[in-house]
This record gives sequence, structure tokens and C-alpha cells, in this order.
Amino acid sequence: MVHIPSAAPAHRIDRRIYGQFAEHLGRCIYEGVWVGADSSIPNKNGIRTDVVDALRHIKVPLVRWPGGCFADEYHWLKGVGPERQPMVNTHWGGVVESNEFGTHEYFELLNQLDAEAYINGNVGSGTVAEMHDWIEYMTLDSTAPMAELRKRHGREQPWKVDFFGVGNESWGCGGNMLPLHYANQYRQYQTYVRQYGESPVTKIACGANSDDYEWTEVLMARAAEHMDGLSLHYYTIPTGEWNAKGSATDFDDYGWYETLRQTRRMEELLTRHSAIMDKHDPNKRVSLIVDEWGTWYDVEQGTNPGFLYQQNTIRDAVVAALNLNIFHRHSDRVRMTNIAQMVNVLQAMLLTDGDRLVKTPTYHVFDLYSDHQDAEFVATPTAAGTTPGALGTEGDFTVSRKDGALTISATNWGLGRELEADFELPGTATDLLRAQLLTGPAATSHNTFERPEEVALADLAVRVDGRRVRFTLPPHSVATVRVAHAE
Ligand code: AHR
Repeated sequence: MVHIPSAAPAHRIDRRIYGQFAEHLGRCIYEGVWVGADSSIPNKNGIRTDVVDALRHIKVPLVRWPGGCFADEYHWLKGVGPERQPMVNTHWGGVVESNEFGTHEYFELLNQLDAEAYINGNVGSGTVAEMHDWIEYMTLDSTAPMAELRKRHGREQPWKVDFFGVGNESWGCGGNMLPLHYANQYRQYQTYVRQYGESPVTKIACGANSDDYEWTEVLMARAAEHMDGLSLHYYTIPTGEWNAKGSATDFDDYGWYETLRQTRRMEELLTRHSAIMDKHDPNKRVSLIVDEWGTWYDVEQGTNPGFLYQQNTIRDAVVAALNLNIFHRHSDRVRMTNIAQMVNVLQAMLLTDGDRLVKTPTYHVFDLYSDHQDAEFVATPTAAGTTPGALGTEGDFTVSRKDGALTISATNWGLGRELEADFELPGTATDLLRAQLLTGPAATSHNTFERPEEVALADLAVRVDGRRVRFTLPPHSVATVRVAHAE
């Protein structure tokens, strides 16, 4: 049995942990988000209505854009005004990027989603002046040249840029820099990310590639005072091999467990990067921002290898749940994450085909977990540590408190047997507010355009008796129970 303690000072699970990432890559922006105002696909100002409706339902708090690797070859001026200048998207398929979707269209998307902005600037192939001008264009309310240009392009008021990333993967596709070189570049570029409006731009430095602890050490030692956040990228690859990652849908028990082993490495990565950050920043002022995470498989057969289109099964749902549980445990330092990516790329929420749309199992986990956004993390004896125990060796869970109710999300990541979840509340249960289960006939179950509801949320049978809340988790499943109680 898991005993849930009474309310005690704890840290908040920042809603931005549920952030999304949308790059100019494959069919994420074009087709996935942007179809243009003249499209026969229902849209508002060029943005797909079905996609916005689905994303609003899971309360997307912010969207990182325009990349990724694309960010370091993006020149924003080509994507504003009546005459857009095309370019070649060299990282992703060598296709022509029309720049039809640019700064104005991005803010229109955010407006429709009611989400915050996280823009990633170009350090790899862009200039300091270019970054400076972009910030001025977006956020300055005056008669200065870039603000005037924005007005000529139809936007009188400045926008609010909540978060700004200074370079992406500067150790790799963003310039192949060494840590000290990037630390210097970061210090220089961020100087010109001016604070024009009332609300400050939160500056995020490019962080480490998975277990590159030296990168974190150098950045924190040399540039911490100039940053608000430091990022981290870690992808779950079933085989651990970039040149043969494994199939999204065709896997055996070994492939299942290996994938989950790889994904659970996130706990160690966060623990060790946080320990380095704690040394330089004991008050935890600088956030650790996991702005790319999720599964990365071999692309679906017959699709452009540069488009990173993959299917999404119950395995992805469990990967999402395990990572979100880990982020909750580390939410005193981890205040934003961005799953890669929002539509049609990697571990997507949504897949589209023409005017058709399917919600993936990962989408349903984000739905199941939505009540954890901005809730107080509840440290239970097992959830506080790294060893899941109370649900057996193949179970994991997370608990949060908000608006007088407790939200319990639990996953059975084993393939063999049911798990009995048994929680004791700090007071008598007064109302069962939500009880839902996500599973499928097989570990490889997934949604297709022909069978979009193969994996969907279902009611969960919960036994509530005084302070006790009990339910059964079938193999390969994720559940959420939300219960009000008297304390
Ligand atoms: O998400 C796909 C790519 O993965 C991003 O563009 C890059 O930052 C990372 O390597």
C-alpha cells in the first residue's frame, strides 16, 4: 500500500513540463499544422482546426519553434512580409522550405492554442545582429526600424516572447562547438536578446547531449549568471544505435523492455545534471529544460527518411508516462520539457493524412496527465526516490495535489501480469472525479487512419473505501484516478 501524506510544502509541477516542440521538419509544420487559408481542410487563418481542437483539449502550455537543427539555419526575415523567400531545408530531406509559416503564423498558432512562446534563435549560421533584430521585431513597442517593419506587416502590438533559446545542439548540428567556445558565444549572443517589454524574456542556453556532463559543468561555471535555463536533449532509441534504431511497431518482448530500460535512463541523467547545477546554483535559479525527448525509431517504410515519420504504440504511451513521472520527481529543477514532436514527427501527439487525423497513445497519456499541470508534487516514500517499489518492480506512479483533490497516475510497464494499486489517502475520499485507463489488446497496439480508436481511453473500475483507493492495472497500461478527499 502507498501512503499519501497530508499537504506539506512541496514543489510545483510546472505546466510547462507538458510543452510541445514543432520544427520545420517533414510534415510537422506543413500539413500537420499549416495548410493555408485556401485549403479544403478546415482551418482558421491557415491553421488546421482539428489539430488545434485536439491540442487545446490536452492544454498545451507552450510550443517550441522553429527547431531543432532547423533553428540554426533559419533566417527569420525570409519568413515575414508579403514576399517570402524560399530556402533549402538541408537537415530534413533537402526539401524547399517556402517560409510561408513564419513569425506571424507562429504567434497565430499560439493565439489559437492559448499557449506561450518558446523561440529558438540561430547561433550556428546567424549573426548577433539578426538575433537582435528579431527580438526587436517581435517585442519592441516603439518607432524603431524593426518595430515599424512589424507594423507594416500588419501587426501593431508587439508579441510576448516568453522563452528564447540561444542556439540548438550547438555541440552538433548547431555548429559543432566545444563547450567553452559555446559558453562564450552564448554570453555574447544573449547580450542582444534585449528586454523591451514589461515581461522579461526567459533566456535558455543550449545544454548537453544526454550524458555529456562536461558540457553542463562548463556552461554552469562560465555562463550561469547570464541564463535562466539550460537545456538537455535525450532520445529513447530501442537499440541504442543511431544507424539501426528499431521499428516503431514491430518489436518483441526484448524490444519492449530494452526501450523502457533506455527511457528510464532519464532519471540518472536528470540526477547527475542537476547535481552539477546544484554545485553552481544551489538555490536552483536556473531551470533544467529537457527541450527534446521521446522515442526515435526507424522511419515508417515508404516515407522520406528525412521526415522522421513514425507510428506510436502502447510502448510509446508507457515511455511518456515513465518520463513524465521522472520529470515530476525532478520538478524542483526541471521546469519545462518539450516532447519531440507535436504532429507527424517522432513521438507525436497527432498523425495526419490529408484531412484525416488520429490521436496517438502518447496523446492520450498527455490527456490522462493533464490534471498534474501546475499541481503540487506529492512526495510519497517510493515516488520520492528512484526505485519504484510499491507497485512491484514493473510499476511506477506519480501523485499530485490541486484544487482539493489528489491525482494519481500509475503505469504497469510489465508485459506479464496485472498489478494491484492500493493507495491510502490522508483523509476520507469524498468524490471520484476521474478514473480512466489506457491499454490495448497488445503491446504493439496503435491507432491507424482506418482504426483510429484501437487505443483509446476507457473507464477504469476503482474500489473506493474510506481512505483506501484500489484499482487493477493490466499489463502494458497507464491509468489516472482523481479523487477529492477530506483532510
Ligand atoms: O527532433 C529532431 C532533431 O533532433 C532536432 O532537430 C535536433 O535538435 C535533434 O537532434
